[in-house]
Amino acid sequence: MSDAAARAARWVRPQVQSLTGYRVADPGEVIKLDAMENPWPWPGALEEAWLERLRTVAINRYPDAAARELKPLLRDGLGVPADAGLLLGNGSDELIQLIDLAVAGSGRTVLAPAPSFAMYRIIAEVTGATYAEVPLGPDFELDLPATLEALAAYQPAVTYLAHPNNPTGNGLDLDAVAEVVAQADGLVVVDEAYAPYADTTFLPRVLDHPNCLLLRTLSKVGLAGLRVGALIGHPAWLEELEKCRLPYNLSVPAQASAAFALEHRQALDRAVSHVLAERGRLAEALPAVPGVQQVWPTQTNFLTFRVPPGCGEAVYRGLLERGVLIKSLHGSHPRLADCLRVTVGRPEENDRFLEALAEALAAA
Ligand SMILES: Cc1ncc(COP(=O)(O)O)c(C=O)c1O
Repeated sequence: MSDAAARAARWVRPQVQSLTGYRVADPGEVIKLDAMENPWPWPGALEEAWLERLRTVAINRYPDAAARELKPLLRDGLGVPADAGLLLGNGSDELIQLIDLAVAGSGRTVLAPAPSFAMYRIIAEVTGATYAEVPLGPDFELDLPATLEALAAYQPAVTYLAHPNNPTGNGLDLDAVAEVVAQADGLVVVDEAYAPYADTTFLPRVLDHPNCLLLRTLSKVGLAGLRVGALIGHPAWLEELEKCRLPYNLSVPAQASAAFALEHRQALDRAVSHVLAERGRLAEALPAVPGVQQVWPTQTNFLTFRVPPGCGEAVYRGLLERGVLIKSLHGSHPRLADCLRVTVGRPEENDRFLEALAEALAAA
């Protein structure tokens, strides 16, 4: 072991050393359908106008720490209730980290249903918190009695509920969510990363509870590269969390670009409606591919499906060999054996995916 490795082993906290970090695949030259990005580019004229806007920003200056231009546009674009506070993050990942830094940490518990978003565990453990899971029901719905039991048993400082849930794609019953919030003493964060693709939202109900915050992101509507997340809720919570936020967490180009995008919401809305149309087409075509065993209903911009037992990894690799990158969920949770997750792409990408999937399944 090198001296540096020995020092790192001595000083990095054991909880961090035992973690497996979040792996991001190197896409290379492939059709990229692994990360819930929106694939629709802006029309050329709009892209030119955006580049013009970027020409005016001062990158020699620190960003506006209060995001004064962006915040009102986000409030309007997301429909944030007038009495609610708004805190911005470098993607919602950073907001999850900020919540856990402020509320979780050593000696406290973070709870989430399982299977759910991988970062809930990673970030909780990085902050020194204990991570506890409560299994989702047979159709990946919230198991209300089990969740209420888990609240009583663990007394979590923070509970994360993703609505809709990643990687299962389904929305949660919002009355069940409200019941969880009502019964929890600690903070409950309703993570609505996929809200643009969902039928329902908890947003109008967030202020009904003294212990609820709601997360949104611009990542799934074509702006994943900007890293802009929004945390919405009672100002009393957000004022405390604000103290943990690094003042310049949103770069000058990110703030200007997000503001520009929100001033041209039709382009974002168009990108969402294209995905919804393609999602419908994929949801019909996917179950008809020989070998696909189950496709779960989705309220997101991805579909989760199962292939025959023992074939999950081979199908994932077969797709990659044919130039299509999706996400293998196999091994991430016992309920997701031989499951794969595909992000809805552009029509020609989805066609290529369906073709490559049929071939990979036949070969597996
Ligand atoms: C449920 C959920 N929350 C949060 C995020 C993180 O999104 P962001 O790009 O805003 O960090 C994701 C990304 O996949 C997600 O699935």
